Amino acid sequence: MIGLAPLGGPDYGARGMTQDNSSQPTTEAQASGGDLFNTVAGWVLFAGIVGLGLAQISKHYFEADKPERPEKLGYVIEGVVEEDAGPAEMSMAEALNAKPAAELIAAGEKVFAKCQSCHTIEAGGANGIGPNLHGTLGKAVATHPGFDYSAELKAHGGNWDWENINDWLKNPKGYVPGTKMSFAGLGKVEDRAAVAMYLNSQGSNLPVPSFVADAAAGTPAGEATPAAGETPAAAETPAE
Ligand code: HEC
Repeated sequence: MIGLAPLGGPDYGARGMTQDNSSQPTTEAQASGGDLFNTVAGWVLFAGIVGLGLAQISKHYFEADKPERPEKLGYVIEGVVEEDAGPAEMSMAEALNAKPAAELIAAGEKVFAKCQSCHTIEAGGANGIGPNLHGTLGKAVATHPGFDYSAELKAHGGNWDWENINDWLKNPKGYVPGTKMSFAGLGKVEDRAAVAMYLNSQGSNLPVPSFVADAAAGTPAGEATPAAGETPAAAETPAE
């Protein structure tokens, strides 16, 4: 009897409190809502970690077959740097045959606008900052009458031909260090071929070198560059 009283008392009291305190169920709901939130957040976090892990794994997986690519790209970039004027520059002979002579001469006359501040081209034209260039192709280097050439160009010797005028016009100071010709050079072989054809049409008449397309057929644009890239590799092998 005595023992029941204490049990019954608090039981009633608790019920009374439950009915009075209407906020208690809400507190419980919030508590379980918080648990739910934590659970969801946990799963989201877990999913994120799994996702990161998968991304990392797949990255390794897909990169496994990538090393082949950079090698090929390396060839192309090396070629571009070496050629110094775009990928796989054609030879002077090829450029001289790339278009009909009349077209090249017309294009060369336009390129010659870059030379006119220093050079005249017509027969008997005056020397300016540079010598008159009438009939220069095929003529002995640095021999135009009345022009004070640099000692360096005079020391060159030989006659102007398609190949040495190509080198000269590409980079005068590189080809003849100490030259008085303050001209940066023509970066494109197409321009050098065109202006050389124009010079040849002005008092010169060198035969245009033949270009046999078959000779270069095995090494068009893409293949010519790897061939150059193989040289250092071949040189490394005996060294090791
Ligand atoms: C800033 C002036 C200047 C410009 C621009 C210039 N030249 Fe010259 N050129 C010279 C001078 C100066 C010389 C003589 C160089 C020497 O004596 O070292 C020369 C020499 C030459 C020679 C050698 C002539 C000979 O008698 O042996 C050729 C060929 C030539 N120039 C072609 C050209 C062409 C083609 C262009 C345009 C694409 C050009 N030059 C632009 C100043 C110039």
